[in-house]
Amino acid sequence: MNKITVIGAGNVGATVANVIAHKELAHEVILVDIKEGLAEGKALDIWQSSSINNFNSRVIGVTNDYLKTKGSGIIVVTSGIPRKPGMSRDDLIKTNASIVKDVTEKAIKYSPDAIIIVVSNPLDVMTYAAFKTTRKKSTKVFGMAGTLDTGRYKAFLAEALNVSPKDIHALLMGSHGDTMVPLPRYTSVAGIPVTQLLSKEVIDKIVERTRKGGGELVNLMGTSAWYAPGAAVAQLVEAIVDNQRRIFPVCAYLSGEYDLDDIYLGVPAVIGQNGIEEIVQVELNNEEKKLLQDSANAVKETMNVLDEMNLFD
Ligand code: LAC
Repeated sequence: MNKITVIGAGNVGATVANVIAHKELAHEVILVDIKEGLAEGKALDIWQSSSINNFNSRVIGVTNDYLKTKGSGIIVVTSGIPRKPGMSRDDLIKTNASIVKDVTEKAIKYSPDAIIIVVSNPLDVMTYAAFKTTRKKSTKVFGMAGTLDTGRYKAFLAEALNVSPKDIHALLMGSHGDTMVPLPRYTSVAGIPVTQLLSKEVIDKIVERTRKGGGELVNLMGTSAWYAPGAAVAQLVEAIVDNQRRIFPVCAYLSGEYDLDDIYLGVPAVIGQNGIEEIVQVELNNEEKKLLQDSANAVKETMNVLDEMNLFD
């Protein structure tokens, strides 16, 4: 791909740019921030590792200069404030909704055909805000959360089983919040259902730790995570750039799928050159359906706060 833009040069944005450059997913990676010098500095630092880490992608940082982002194939939106200990992702909505709207508007002016990947929190509602801003086809605007949350889930499972995380396949649905829905019934280790390998008690604990995975890191570091979030975004970018058609849980717009309508929520989807190529509908039992519905209800509540802000006509 010719150009990929990452908006927000905080920990997550800079890590995304770094991983994208390492994987040479674009000729140019443009890192944008509002803070004078921040994106320039981080981009320069990454670029100076190019000969050491053996990559060609040119990483360029700019302060608010969206003209430099012109013609990007993918725009990753990471802007906004991160959580501090004691905050939920939903506490960020008032500040981050206006920021996401503003930066998305500026970016699509120069790259009207770009696929937008949202990472800002509260993720599900911020993805909805970006969708409303761009008025693009919903398949071209989606959020990164499930790849991160399954990454955490798989890491915990690999630890409990003492096996390679590479052999773990897992599905997780719902919001990127405490109501997310890891699905042990759809989790396997080299093809073996995890329910045959671990007791219900251990699995339940891992599911709960996964739900609170972001918060665990906020409590440890005083701010939210970046290595796994950055890697998870790059995994989606790679699927688009190489038209891999891999199936990942992403925060997608639903219009009837899973009996849910006009909401962004985590579901499995085929990711390829057009963004979301297809939403995959898996069978859920009554308990799983209820958990997904509870998650949708929680997101709708946050969406009401967004509606009350009257950001969109
Ligand atoms: C997390 C943030 C990125 O879950 O939402 O770490």
